[in-house]
Amino acid sequence: MCGIIGYLGFRPVGKILHSGLKALEYRGYDSAGVAVIEGGAAVRIVKDTGKVDEINSSLKFDSLEGHAGIAHTRWATHGGVTQPNAHPHVSCGGAVAVVHNGIIENYKELREDLRSKGHAFASQTDSEVIPHLIEEGLKAGLPFDKAVLGACARLKGSFAFLALSSANPSELMAARNESPLIVGVGDNEFFVASDCIPFLDYTKKAVFLNDGEAVWLKAEGGFEMKFFDFKSGRQIMKEISEIKWSASQAQKGEFEHFMLKEIMEEPFVFKQSAFQDELVLKDFAKGVLDAKDAFVVASGTSFHASLVGRAWFKKLAAKDLKVVLASEFALDSESLSKDSLVIAVSQSGETADVLDCIRAAKAAGARIFSIVNVVGSTVDRLSEKTLYLNCGPEVGVAATKSFLNQLGVFCLLAFAAKGEKVDFAELGVFIEQGLEWNREKLKELAKEFKFRDNVYFLGRGASYPIALEGALKLKEISYIHAEGMPAGELKHGTLALIEKGTPVVLLNPPDSSFTHALNNGIEAKARGAKIIGVGVENNENYDLWLQLPKIENPLFYPIIETIPLQLLAYYSAVERGRDPDKPRNLAKSVTVR
Ligand code: G6P
Repeated sequence: MCGIIGYLGFRPVGKILHSGLKALEYRGYDSAGVAVIEGGAAVRIVKDTGKVDEINSSLKFDSLEGHAGIAHTRWATHGGVTQPNAHPHVSCGGAVAVVHNGIIENYKELREDLRSKGHAFASQTDSEVIPHLIEEGLKAGLPFDKAVLGACARLKGSFAFLALSSANPSELMAARNESPLIVGVGDNEFFVASDCIPFLDYTKKAVFLNDGEAVWLKAEGGFEMKFFDFKSGRQIMKEISEIKWSASQAQKGEFEHFMLKEIMEEPFVFKQSAFQDELVLKDFAKGVLDAKDAFVVASGTSFHASLVGRAWFKKLAAKDLKVVLASEFALDSESLSKDSLVIAVSQSGETADVLDCIRAAKAAGARIFSIVNVVGSTVDRLSEKTLYLNCGPEVGVAATKSFLNQLGVFCLLAFAAKGEKVDFAELGVFIEQGLEWNREKLKELAKEFKFRDNVYFLGRGASYPIALEGALKLKEISYIHAEGMPAGELKHGTLALIEKGTPVVLLNPPDSSFTHALNNGIEAKARGAKIIGVGVENNENYDLWLQLPKIENPLFYPIIETIPLQLLAYYSAVERGRDPDKPRNLAKSVTVR
């Protein structure tokens, strides 16, 4: 939630920040803004509500001059979506500018205290206290770095922030607590951003900040960076890591939207989920089998993948995984002990609810394993063992290829727990067929969905989580109300909502669930539903058939079934004139609770 980027170097800052904002826009797009040190010594702020392109067309980020600046793209938490609430926020005199991602929990007390000292506030945000706190430190005669460290010590909550001061035009300060922040280290230039995508074109060298750490960057008289533990104020040493992703992986290329590009990559990218370190995979699987209680915590799409993982573990390794929504985990955390294992599943590795679970698990002495996409993310770094999704950067807000690769990793793990290996080469071909065979039908169906208010997705067994995921995808990007449910539960209430023409997507793979699921579809059809059957053969009860390739091992059907549902959501959003990459009110990485 909210993306931040700062730059200090020799390139025109306006252009760098503008492209950085575009790359971070998936994190929030209510408003955006930039602060630069212009003419060597004055802070200039440009900000407004709207998406980056809209704001740029009037405010022209590119034209901003100077070589030091910070920028922010917002997903509102405290304070509505208004121009004054957009970041950057400034101190009373306007000499200090700050962009912030996170929530300052004690902002009310801080505001009161600062008000009593004569500070006036221009916004309703929690973030605005930060530049005023820094200003207080500067007034007390502290140098910029010490003033920022002093401000950090007074903040409670989650934050990643960047600060500029007109009195220190060649310096940039950044600090992190519970919100991601990475320093990109170039030749005579520095970047600091919520993730590495904005600076991949310029450098692959990065330093990952941990909670409680700050960095001071300086450009004048030689480039210098110093890291601090802001609680003690002591300087610390940090290692530089090499990032493996390339800039082109995070670009749209010939596709109209990132979401479509990311879906079309799946046949190839899915196979990469099998690129795992054999030893880590074995140890991970053994750790799961040995654990007295194995919890899996995740949110959104990652939760749905974990539910499929549970089904596979049960079937292949007779092991029960306790899959819990990260935001609800507090209710289960009492049963944690040092004999528990918590597996955190997250594309971004930064979801606040997931991080809370990890902290609770650590406090109980439990082991932490994870399945993540972003190498070096907080979840990754807090885990004893990590398996990576290897699907490359995912930019579209709606998770697609990362879901498929989460299924891939769970599948490998469940087979490893059984002591077997699994080969994904053929599955890549089936995924491709799933994409090609149904595209035209799905485009037509999306034209019909344009006028629908409700769609139901039904599945049994391991197809039930896929029904949940199909409904989530449709809801989040097309804004059509959708419900995913176990097919057998329809008759226990929801059937009352079926009317003539109500679309029901029936996941109907040729496994042990086939007949029961089909019967549930027929019950809905008898009440007027239009049945969209997803299976390997057509059936007289289907009003429309989405064809799946026939595969030898029925365990793999959840992987293949996902494909038409992702495309259906995509085409429906496009038909309705929605931007699938930036659904309203949502953000890709939710770093608040
Ligand atoms: C947000 C995103 C979802 C995502 C969920 C979990 O809600 O909009 O697409 O599934 O977070 O994200 P994670 O990065 O932890 O998998």
